[in-house]
Amino acid sequence: NLFGELRKNSMGINFSNDNELKATAEAVNAKSGPWTAEPLVPGAVGAASAATVTVTNPADRRQTVGSYVSADAALVDKALANAVATQPDWDRLPAASRAAILEHAAEQLEARRAEFIALCVREAGKSLPDAIAEIREAADFLRYYATMARRLFGQPEQLPGPTGESNQLFLNGRGVFVCISPWNFPLAIFLGQVSAALAAGNSVIAKPAEQTSLIGYAAVKLLHEAGVPEAVLQYLPGDGAVVGAALTRDPRVAGVAFTGSTETAWAINRALAARNAPIAALIAETGGQNAMIADSSALPEQIVKDVIASAFQSAGQRCSAARVLFVQEDIADKVTSMLAGAMAELKVGDPGQLSTDVGPVIDEDAKQILVDHAARMDKEAKKIAEAPLDADVAAHGTFFAPRAYEIPTLSTLKREVFGPVLHVLRWKGSELPQVVEQINATGYGLTLGVHSRIDDTVEYIRSHARVGNCYVNRNQIGAVVGVQPFGGESLSGTGPKAGGPHYLLRFAGERTLTINT
Ligand code: SER
Repeated sequence: NLFGELRKNSMGINFSNDNELKATAEAVNAKSGPWTAEPLVPGAVGAASAATVTVTNPADRRQTVGSYVSADAALVDKALANAVATQPDWDRLPAASRAAILEHAAEQLEARRAEFIALCVREAGKSLPDAIAEIREAADFLRYYATMARRLFGQPEQLPGPTGESNQLFLNGRGVFVCISPWNFPLAIFLGQVSAALAAGNSVIAKPAEQTSLIGYAAVKLLHEAGVPEAVLQYLPGDGAVVGAALTRDPRVAGVAFTGSTETAWAINRALAARNAPIAALIAETGGQNAMIADSSALPEQIVKDVIASAFQSAGQRCSAARVLFVQEDIADKVTSMLAGAMAELKVGDPGQLSTDVGPVIDEDAKQILVDHAARMDKEAKKIAEAPLDADVAAHGTFFAPRAYEIPTLSTLKREVFGPVLHVLRWKGSELPQVVEQINATGYGLTLGVHSRIDDTVEYIRSHARVGNCYVNRNQIGAVVGVQPFGGESLSGTGPKAGGPHYLLRFAGERTLTINT
């Protein structure tokens, strides 16, 4: 049982212990930067001539969080040369040695969590609970992939030798892996991708999202301090169109782990395929158009509680977030009126305050997409509710008040809108197959929430919905490493699932050794 060994998820903070919570909030608030970052490429010259980017706080754009130096094309070349040169020795290390380094990093991350939480709050606009969960998830990934590396890479698998020969199957790193990570989980997904690639014996070039370059830098430093050689894990912040594109068109790259939009995944896939080079592995985790289906056997109170978390926690900026609620007609009026009541209580504001439910969205571009979408919904749909947003709060940060709309058909939504907007559709009792078919027809397949106490309904949905993560009678966010391996299918990603037992295998090559004894 591949899940058996990892039953030690990170503990985080006890939210029912006021003292612990207050002490954490104080420690976090005492760390205010400014933080700096620069490319980490041993032996590179000329980084100082590249552009410096100022980072401001999404909750208050008047506050400078820090700055980073972005990489240019010359650095990409040097980083690739380093990565090629150092990968074989890293790969030949015993898997247990690589695993021990990752476990040491997990301990250090937890020991220094106040600093990392502060960075997640200030640079990414994460609420305190989200930031605490982020540190836990990152530590979980480090430990989980360490465990899996020992188990899968620690010794060759002995195969049958029916003719008297000895046969063994070895796993090895593929070569140079490029990890391109998103801003919405700037530490957890960043470290998840990087630690998986490292655990499997690859050298890594990490390209963080532009919006969260400081967090990426701190994460790479953490791994260096834990023992990963600097030329085995390099850090290249910068514009995706420059740095990401230069990396993915280079023939020296053996694989890419990417989390972000479906469109960017297509572009990476095309760039990799256009090279006259070894065929690269691509692990992509992309978008969704996630639904929740609620029938009239479910408790409206529970539906509303779980919809609020699924649609609005993290300001809706999770790939797992619920975008569409299909609610059975009989309970729709009750659910929508309770939803409006609950939304009126949401507190939108400073993510550093424990009382805040919804923090800012990541930047002005993200906010503008939401503003434009809301303007269209105001015309084409019926607004159910809009959460209150204080004018003082809104004045200085990139905030967007959560909204819910009743829409006429699913086709009203053209693509995923990445933020705190929920869309509601009603369905009749006999229409379950059509509801599931509409969800499948979006082409995405990431998460699905179900609220029903009818076993046959749950089983029908389970066996017909083409989604990676289905959650019943709870919210549909916050997959736990090793417990709910995370990732979708079709337009939502390639698999294998992050935090699952098969993830490391995609970062690996396989070799057999046959000895005629
Ligand atoms: N893994 C996150 C979640 O489950 C989404 O990226 O919410």
